[in-house]
Amino acid sequence: MTLDVGVIGVGMIGQEHIRRLDGGPGGSRVVAVADADAQRAATVAGQLSAAKALASGDELIASDAVDAVVVTSWGPTHEPYVLACIAAGKPVFCEKPLATTQDACRRIVDAEVAAGRRGVQVGFNRRYDPAHRALKQAVDGGAIGAPLLVHCAHRNASVPGHYTRDMSIADTAIHEIDQLRWLLGQEIAAVQVHTPRKSSRGGELQDPLLVLFEMADGVLVDVEVSVNVHYGYEIRCEVSGETGTVELADTAPVRVRSAGVVAGLVPADWRERFTLSYDIELREWVDTVVAGRPTQGPSAWDGYAAQVVSDAALQSLHAGGRVSIELPPRPGLYAAPPAS
Ligand SMILES: NC(=O)c1ccc[n+]([C@@H]2O[C@H](COP(=O)([O-])OP(=O)(O)OC[C@H]3O[C@@H](n4cnc5c(N)ncnc54)[C@H](O)[C@@H]3O)[C@@H](O)[C@H]2O)c1
Repeated sequence: MTLDVGVIGVGMIGQEHIRRLDGGPGGSRVVAVADADAQRAATVAGQLSAAKALASGDELIASDAVDAVVVTSWGPTHEPYVLACIAAGKPVFCEKPLATTQDACRRIVDAEVAAGRRGVQVGFNRRYDPAHRALKQAVDGGAIGAPLLVHCAHRNASVPGHYTRDMSIADTAIHEIDQLRWLLGQEIAAVQVHTPRKSSRGGELQDPLLVLFEMADGVLVDVEVSVNVHYGYEIRCEVSGETGTVELADTAPVRVRSAGVVAGLVPADWRERFTLSYDIELREWVDTVVAGRPTQGPSAWDGYAAQVVSDAALQSLHAGGRVSIELPPRPGLYAAPPAS
């Protein structure tokens, strides 16, 4: 069966996902697109063999031609689209963030619980990166004993002019927030954001940040968030356990030794580093939907939990100090621990 997908928001990542979904190996094609910029929607539809540009996201969700929906519009627009998909009984893959406030995320969780079936998946793509999966396998398999400490770094070469101080948490560190809950199978119990000496390259931004997370079982995590490192894009994670350590390996495809120097390429940006993760993420989503199974990947609950932690981190960034986090009870629909 071919899955007929509609895509709402055909900007940068929307077009990337369309490339994977239209005629991809999972058996899907893009039959409709919609964008607040009608001209952009028409241009994108014109490049596809079976897609129509529709006047609005709501029309796309209601269309009988669309089996499943991908939401890749701006974050503040996600909530109404995801709620409309739940009401229409259509599976929806929504890029992160699920919504931009925890109340909005909670409304989505409540609507999905009322519907009684998981159909919302959030685009936390780290869970599909082969290196991150191998890291989790090593931790879960007991290769390093019980985890005690985790050291992470999230470094961007640069960020666009509209990037604000809060985006270091809400847009950037939110990937680590989901990754840590998934990797360690624990909720985050507290967070404290430290503001070291500012990089002279960051303008008005408070860059870098050092974010300390306390997991529910006591594991302590430090995350460096740097968004102006100039040299490239780098994601690091090392887990220190009772009997060993495991870390993400260098991603350079080759290492050159020459003139007394060892050198390897650093990815330019997140697209280069995580291409494979997006391929796997969407292929598994299509496979699940085609098989008629409830969605398995990062859930609406994961989107909600990440937003609660992100808000707590922003509170610490603005007012200082350690902020405790308490989530309400997890609804039975999401009974399993964070999993991919
Ligand atoms: N998982 C990841 O690694 C990752 C990477 C990049 C972006 N994202 C997320 O994807 C989303 C889109 O990011 P982007 O970088 O592609 O942004 P973008 O600005 O390039 O594209 C967004 C598109 O949405 C359209 N749009 C805005 N409001 C709309 C509405 N109400 N209805 C329909 N279309 C609307 C815009 O016109 C634009 O074409 C964001 O939520 C972002 O956080 C995730």
